[in-house]
Amino acid sequence: PKVTYRPVNGDAITVDAFPDMTLMEIALCNDIPGIVGLCGGICSCATCHVYIDDAWVARLPQPTGEERDMVDGLDNARPTSRLGCQVTVTDALDGLVVEVAEEA
Ligand code: FES
Repeated sequence: PKVTYRPVNGDAITVDAFPDMTLMEIALCNDIPGIVGLCGGICSCATCHVYIDDAWVARLPQPTGEERDMVDGLDNARPTSRLGCQVTVTDALDGLVVEVAEEA
């Protein structure tokens, strides 16, 4: 699937991913600025915070309670916020667009 990241400063970057990687893993493999993945994907650092494009929000599986709690604690959270390490990009999400959140 293809995923487009919009970094805080800079042009959108569209990359090709293997199916079933997370948004955080895909970003790290492609040097997307602003996504760090400090905790390695265990839902505890929020350095993978992204905003899902409005058109896609409803098509993603719902966040777990753990992810929701983490996001709720972020100063720059929006209704479209997700942790990149908790969103698996399947072929059904081909074309997904996300905005990288500014470091909180
Ligand atoms: Fe740490 Fe996602 S990589 S919360």
